[in-house]
Amino acid sequence: MLNGKKIVLGVSGGIAAYKMPMLVRLLKKSGAEVKVIMTVNAAQFVAPLALAVTSGSEVLTEIFPAASIHNAELNWTQHISLGEWADAFVVAPATCNTLARLATGHCDDMLTAIYLSLRHGKPKLVFPSMDEEMFLAPAVQRNIGQLSGDGCTVFAPEHGELASGLVGMGRLPEPETIVEKIRAALELHGAPQAARKIYTGKKVLITAGATREKIDDVRFISNYASGKMGFALASEAALQGAEVVLVTGKTFLPTPAAVTRIDVESADDMLRAVESHFDTCDVFIAAAAVADYRPAAAAAGKIKKSEAVFDLHLVRTPDILMQCGRRKSPSQLVIGFALEVQNAEDNARGKLAAKNLDLIVLNSADVAGAGFEVDTNIITLIARGGAIEKFPLMTKREAAGKILNRISRFFDED
Ligand SMILES: Cc1cc2nc3c(=O)[nH]c(=O)nc-3n(C[C@H](O)[C@H](O)[C@H](O)COP(=O)(O)O)c2cc1C
Repeated sequence: MLNGKKIVLGVSGGIAAYKMPMLVRLLKKSGAEVKVIMTVNAAQFVAPLALAVTSGSEVLTEIFPAASIHNAELNWTQHISLGEWADAFVVAPATCNTLARLATGHCDDMLTAIYLSLRHGKPKLVFPSMDEEMFLAPAVQRNIGQLSGDGCTVFAPEHGELASGLVGMGRLPEPETIVEKIRAALELHGAPQAARKIYTGKKVLITAGATREKIDDVRFISNYASGKMGFALASEAALQGAEVVLVTGKTFLPTPAAVTRIDVESADDMLRAVESHFDTCDVFIAAAAVADYRPAAAAAGKIKKSEAVFDLHLVRTPDILMQCGRRKSPSQLVIGFALEVQNAEDNARGKLAAKNLDLIVLNSADVAGAGFEVDTNIITLIARGGAIEKFPLMTKREAAGKILNRISRFFDED
């Protein structure tokens, strides 16, 4: 899987560091060569010896070798030669502190130095892991945004049980998942230039996540959409050379590298943001789960609890996809998503025709591994004209690749 790939793993001082000998073992089993760098604090959580033994290599922390081992054979500039050597630099777990240090260009230990000396264009894969409140802290989100903007792929931590005993967002993915993400990143990186850059010169507008329709100042109607599919599409389209504008409802996902992100709340807000970019886009992909209805009027303050029954009067929200399908010029492509339970294909075809779409991505909500919040999906693509392609269970990232690949085939037809 990772045959001959050279990976530098930077371990910082979070509790999840204890999983790193297992990650190193799996990477080695996949055929990779691994060199481990740790921060001083990481040694509080995992023994350097365990990482040295599993990687089969010296574990480095400081830029300066200890005075006692100064000798002529020493490689004095490993902080640079390892950056040249590596095919990818992985930081796992990445603590709040290390994220901040990477985002601001610190260079006072081996981990930060190699991050800077990694040769241009090599994948930098960052796996933050921390308490949920810390992850959501504005400063941490700002640093993640900075790192994404600097070309790192920052993977959102998973939701689950945390070291503190709390349940929330912040878990480091399991080593198997991290290996898969490294493999996918290296595969994409190694793909022929022509294959990766089909979208150069194209502007791709994507919606993601769920909208929130206000009932009053503290309550809203929404749905379970996580935004993962839309974010995977945005990330993949950017890698394939597109200029990407991502309009997203509330989500905890970090902004993918080289993507312009617009955060919105309601369906009305989303429509406004889409309208301001639609005319200049080549491809519009509506992956958001937009609420179909909103309260007729949002109450100011908090509605008091009173009667046993409370009637909420709902009105339709704008149909963003329908409006874009009708408005599109002959050179524009409009792609929709359909989440269907019964008569899935017939309903999806109906939506494709009614909304004047070029492609519809059908995913079923009632199949294990597909739908909301999970990292995988099972998709069927139905193109204008009726051609249908079915795919097995795959990661949302892989599904994004398939969808973008199918869309790009329209470029030759148009
Ligand atoms: C028991 C314990 C667990 C910790 N776990 C985390 C963690 O999971 N994520 C994190 O960002 N910081 C965590 N910290 C705080 C970091 O260890 C601390 O910010 C440290 O300065 C990180 O240094 P480094 O990034 O240079 O390794 C933890 C601290 C303690 C005492």
